[in-house]
Amino acid sequence: MNATPDTTTDRPAGHHAEAAGDAPRTIRRVSGEELLTSTYPMHAYAFGSTPPPTDQVERWRADLAPADDRVTLVAFTGEEPEATAVGISLRQNVRGKTLPMLGVSGVATHPMARRRGHIRAVLTQLHGEMRDSGHVVSTLYPFRQSFYERFGYVGFPKARAIRLHARGLERMLRADVPGEVTFHRIGEVFDDYYAATEAILAERHGFSIFSKQSTQGLAKEDKHWAVFARHEDEIVGTLLYRTNGFGAELQGRHLLARNAVGRSLLLQWLARHHDQYASFTFELPPDERPDLWYVDLDYADETKVSGPLHSAPMGRILSVEGLAGIGAGPARASVEVVDDPFVAGTWTLTGVGGALEVQPGGTPTATLTPHGLAALVYGVLDPAELSLQGYGTVDADTAAALRTLFPPAMPYLHAAF
Ligand SMILES: CC(C)(COP(=O)(O)OP(=O)(O)OC[C@H]1O[C@@H](n2cnc3c(N)ncnc32)[C@H](O)[C@@H]1OP(=O)(O)O)[C@@H](O)C(=O)NCCC(=O)NCCS
Repeated sequence: MNATPDTTTDRPAGHHAEAAGDAPRTIRRVSGEELLTSTYPMHAYAFGSTPPPTDQVERWRADLAPADDRVTLVAFTGEEPEATAVGISLRQNVRGKTLPMLGVSGVATHPMARRRGHIRAVLTQLHGEMRDSGHVVSTLYPFRQSFYERFGYVGFPKARAIRLHARGLERMLRADVPGEVTFHRIGEVFDDYYAATEAILAERHGFSIFSKQSTQGLAKEDKHWAVFARHEDEIVGTLLYRTNGFGAELQGRHLLARNAVGRSLLLQWLARHHDQYASFTFELPPDERPDLWYVDLDYADETKVSGPLHSAPMGRILSVEGLAGIGAGPARASVEVVDDPFVAGTWTLTGVGGALEVQPGGTPTATLTPHGLAALVYGVLDPAELSLQGYGTVDADTAAALRTLFPPAMPYLHAAF
């Protein structure tokens, strides 16, 4: 026990073991100064390089800023902060409808207090509070998927990490593409950039964005070039990037194109640098097919799925009624959702005029776990696959109806937290 560093405060090592005793657990919201002595030290220990400098609390204090889109919960045993999780309010497109989404982040328990059920209690409370304040769905990036599977989350496809090599790219310069490219520092055009991501939010399944206030850091840091592909008075593609020297690489963030014109304009921009950089890196939505972009293309797919740092995201549903209005095909199914504090119950789901109607009740012909429900809503598993994963029991007729209601789809989460 004495070998375990206690970085949370200057109290002696071992304090946590004593405090844990029989003291009751309380879970409450923490903000402002109290973050500095509760959540931040646990985050530093879980995710940072520690032990921290002795003046770390002063450094955190200097950076402390209000974050209206965040809720931080802390579990205390007696007075001791022992576990924490952060809920972020984002917006996500789910089958064409933009819904309030909870992003779960900063999940950590003090090493002296692990495996005592703290995080189960904290996450259950966080999901409940955020559901009650209108969040319909929730997503996260797991250190290990099976941990969050216990909380009703199902896996999403991983966005692709692409390294486009310069060889062959000059061909794009000869393509006859309408529209134009404009080139800026992100700090100068942040409002336009955010508006462009909002346009994609309205169009792309699974896409999520932070509030404008939370994204402002990009403009304040001003560390990226911003390229906009413009066509018919709209921004149809964006790429933020940095470069790291002649002959080295151009490091893009996400290559976001709303259509083929936007993508081609961005590729033409990269092609102007084909002698200057050896390669161009960027993230792509999981369903993009760069192999079909142009002839003689040369790229490496460097996508890596591996916890804890390169995990594919996961998602779950927090409110079945909140799904009303998302895109749905013409069919009806009654399902029983089991084993979950938020979405359990019997629901009749009907696609009417392209949109989902949700009614409680009905005579269920399928049983779904919360993962099974999330897999169908997000389109990541076929109904016939659910039983293979342990996510439900669906007969052939109900599988056909659910397949029509929720056709296969490829969520691209985009926001990272
Ligand atoms: C992961 C972590 C937050 C778990 O916290 P905890 O308070 O020990 O978790 P709990 O005791 O509430 O356990 C919750 C459930 O997960 C299980 N569990 C706990 N740690 C686990 C692990 N490392 N792997 C798989 N399952 C685990 C428990 O058995 C329990 O299952 P049950 O409630 O279904 O019976 C903690 O180990 C930690 O801080 N790790 C380092 C930081 C980290 O990885 N954070 C997650 C970032 S996404």
